[in-house]
Amino acid sequence: MAPAVSGGDNPYADRLFVVSSAEELARAAAGRLWGIVRERAAAQCRPGGSAPGIHVALSGGETPRRTYELLSSEPYRGRFPWDRVHFYQVDERWVRPDDPLSNRRMLSEALLSRAPVPEGNFHAVDTALSGPEEAARRYEELLRRAFPDPPGGFPRFDAILLGIGKDGHTASLFPGAKETSEERAWAIHAAGGDPPVPRVTLSLPVLSAAAQVIFLVSGKEKAEVLKRILSGKGEELPAARVLPNRGKVTFLADALAASGIVRSRLEGGR
Ligand code: 6PG
Repeated sequence: MAPAVSGGDNPYADRLFVVSSAEELARAAAGRLWGIVRERAAAQCRPGGSAPGIHVALSGGETPRRTYELLSSEPYRGRFPWDRVHFYQVDERWVRPDDPLSNRRMLSEALLSRAPVPEGNFHAVDTALSGPEEAARRYEELLRRAFPDPPGGFPRFDAILLGIGKDGHTASLFPGAKETSEERAWAIHAAGGDPPVPRVTLSLPVLSAAAQVIFLVSGKEKAEVLKRILSGKGEELPAARVLPNRGKVTFLADALAASGIVRSRLEGGR
């Protein structure tokens, strides 16, 4: 797939890939995740390869649901090295795991109950604990066991799949929230958003430390914010502050979500 927009002085310009529909978006995202996992699995098999284990953090919300359904269906289901891939939550809403708002529930319905993911390979935020502060602390402990002493001080996920809210939030990091200034913690208690429930989220430095960050953006209501981010005018927005220093960021968008930026380029960069 060729980038939709290239050149210019925007570091994101050649990182946008546009497909025609939400269904094609899910196909592109599943294909990209599969490509990353396959490449990592092959690298780990080479002599001197890194320790086995592929670490992928998945967002909640609605956009990625179809991607997860595709990953748990053929042809991916039979090819995916399920026993080697560890899945983590990017963020969770402070609700019971069976609540319709629960990101874990969505992941479970779309992926975990459909694919042969070994029980020990899904690492969740525990919303049965006393509160989001404790859950964030325990989630960070879990992450620190999975990524002992990472170079640079933050875990390097092989891939993190993120969404973008129309206000520019990503994960559970909302514009102007104090959590977006976190510089040390890996997992934090966050507030804000819709639904307005407390949340636990990976911090910005963790998102930026990933080897590959994939933003999935769908629908006309995201067109304005995507345009702001990709044209460099939304620098303060949490989604624009995910800047992998040693990794790569990719924006996958459907035609509606990309309509603002693709049209403005065609019209001469306005
Ligand atoms: C959440 C998410 C969140 C999501 C965006 C986009 O818990 O709400 O993880 O960051 O990715 O809000 O959500 P949609 O995909 O539903 O538009």
